[in-house]
Amino acid sequence: MNFSKTIIRWYNKNKRDLPWRHTKDPYKIWLSEIILQQTRVQQGLPYYETFVKKFPTVHHLAKANEDVVMKTWQGLGYYSRARNLHYSAKFISKNLKGKFPNNFEEIKKLKGIGDYTAGAIASFAFNKPYPVVDGNVFRVLSRYFGIKTPIDSAKGKNEFVEKATLLLDKKNPGTFNQAIMEFGAMKCVPQNPDCGKCPLKNGCEALANDTVSALPFKSKKNKIRTRYFNYLIIRRIGKILIRKRTENDIWKNLHDFPMIETKKNVSYSQIKKMMGINPKYIILNPKSFKHILSHQIIFAKFWETNNINYKTTKNMVYLSKNQLHKFAFPRLIERFFDEKTIF
Ligand code: ADE
Repeated sequence: MNFSKTIIRWYNKNKRDLPWRHTKDPYKIWLSEIILQQTRVQQGLPYYETFVKKFPTVHHLAKANEDVVMKTWQGLGYYSRARNLHYSAKFISKNLKGKFPNNFEEIKKLKGIGDYTAGAIASFAFNKPYPVVDGNVFRVLSRYFGIKTPIDSAKGKNEFVEKATLLLDKKNPGTFNQAIMEFGAMKCVPQNPDCGKCPLKNGCEALANDTVSALPFKSKKNKIRTRYFNYLIIRRIGKILIRKRTENDIWKNLHDFPMIETKKNVSYSQIKKMMGINPKYIILNPKSFKHILSHQIIFAKFWETNNINYKTTKNMVYLSKNQLHKFAFPRLIERFFDEKTIF
């Protein structure tokens, strides 16, 4: 039996029962695919349920306040996904009168949608013959066919897309795409796959050549950037000053506190100087966290002083405890709230 038939047969027997597999609604499929980018199914599932309940149609999402969308996304990470989702929902609702585009090229024009997501929506919702090539698919194809071209190169991407297109079951592209992704997620896993029990073991190049753990191949190592965030906690009659992050950086449109970023770890007296705070004021309640993201390590310091005249900007607001639930915060700030009884 060939590769595609084996994968589809395995899928029909072993697939997980996931809610987005019971719908052809392109809006819901889009939602699920954006949530599942760089996110495990276990983590994404409750967010999918919440989004569908809160925003059952593209018009509901389009009409929602951006802060509400960001708050609903809180904890999932890669927040540009939520911003683009909201932006595209408004575009579909207004400019396309709520009708989701049904061809690959038009779907791909939407903000936040690349080849992968356009292929997923075109094939799952409209049964169009476009491949999906995500991390799972790279792994399955590179191992089974022994493809050593780096997956983080343009050449590699083209090669894998061509291969996936050739293998696609043209009558049931959606099923084939779900099947190969599911196979990668459940069987052909990154670490220690159980190749002895694999239905594809007889034709697998990597298994024959003992290269399972080496594939897929990447040319670059993930570059990790180290950053130092120096946060200042400012209180006023039971409230604390928060600021909306408006710059183009991680966590855009989420909230944290007034801060200065430095290139290295700096002492409190240095940072007081940089923030224009009189050196005679003492540091209160210092707290530090190491926070790890996929491409960044953040060393964050939080502290207060006993007296300060801080000039606020228009993206800052004093917040009381009972308003906390209205604002979206990155996980780092949530960790800070969890650890300290700040109010
Ligand atoms: N990961 C990305 N898309 C997925 C899907 N449709 N089902 C399961 N996992 C996925």
